[in-house]
Amino acid sequence: MFMARKTTISLIKCDVGSLAGHHIVPKPLLNIAEKRLKQAQEKGLINNYYVFNAGDDLELLMVHEKGESNHRIHKLAFDTFTEAADKALKLKLYGAGQDLLKTAFAGNICGMGPGVAEMEIEERGSDPIVVFAADKTSAGAFNLPLFSMFADPMNTAGLVIDPNMAGGFKFEVMDTLENTTVVLKSPEEMYELIALIGTVQRYVVSRVWRASDDLICAAGSVTRLSLIAGKYVGKDDPVMITRAQHGLPALGEILVPFMHSYLVEGWMRGSHWGPIMPVGLKDSKCTVFDGPPRLVALGFQVSNGQIASDDMGKPMVADLFDDPAFEPAKRCNWRRC
Ligand code: 13P
Ligand code: 13P
Ligand code: MG
Ligand code: MG
Repeated sequence: MFMARKTTISLIKCDVGSLAGHHIVPKPLLNIAEKRLKQAQEKGLINNYYVFNAGDDLELLMVHEKGESNHRIHKLAFDTFTEAADKALKLKLYGAGQDLLKTAFAGNICGMGPGVAEMEIEERGSDPIVVFAADKTSAGAFNLPLFSMFADPMNTAGLVIDPNMAGGFKFEVMDTLENTTVVLKSPEEMYELIALIGTVQRYVVSRVWRASDDLICAAGSVTRLSLIAGKYVGKDDPVMITRAQHGLPALGEILVPFMHSYLVEGWMRGSHWGPIMPVGLKDSKCTVFDGPPRLVALGFQVSNGQIASDDMGKPMVADLFDDPAFEPAKRCNWRRC
């Protein structure tokens, strides 16, 4: 019997310390992540990886076949963050080890501070993926765009045009205060869904599936740092993974919610609301009023258990917001609030 290949995409992030306040992850810390993940690839634990930063958050994108919540993958992330935080401490970087709220690893990095988005997929004939990583905002920041992508026909023409999407999508919503989840189906339960996810401080969309066959389409991080620490210690700075095309929203339908900015919780000291700013990797660094909250999006193909790579073995990753099409969102006229 033909068994589809199961591949896992893990995006695990942590603020381990940064340069000049909460601005960027400096090179020595990125180098530690590169070194650790390269070793893990050589040992066969992961198939390949891409290290990047969202402002002051160190992002480990790993593709492997170990499934979600795998303790060896989570330990790899934890050890990487710990080594980087030690280096940050030596360099007296700002907020060294900021998101490592718990330091005794017990098999899973969830609940320790770092943000985790993971998705195990059965690879389709071609599987385009977009990962998002934000800085200076909180876990509910993706509620609105996820609704637009998978529930709003004015955003996603495919909901009307593509028969494979006509059955709608199911949203798992997490109540981060009570630690409970509910699954709501759009379009039938759209109003109930909006009633919950409009309260972004509490309710967070954690997963989305295609309703007709339960195909997983999106997974986001739900970590609320302030609930783990019991006080404000920094922003959640969430991450998210989405799948695109062929019976799912097209790449352009996944990106169009970011063409115009919208207000998110976060910015200076996490106590304001600010316009999210989609940027290319070169602008992934918060400045004015410790913001505006920034968002990067990377596109790639998952192919035979890996991020599809070029002839030199280098993962091919598209820097999707490095595009003048997003100038309206970058230039929007806002005031702090
Ligand atoms: P699919 O090939 O994924 O159905 O997308 C078609 C399309 O027109 C995208 O804009
Ligand atoms: P980070 O969570 O990105 O470290 O931001 C903390 C902060 O308070 C910025 O003003
Ligand atoms: Mg920080
Ligand atoms: Mg941050």
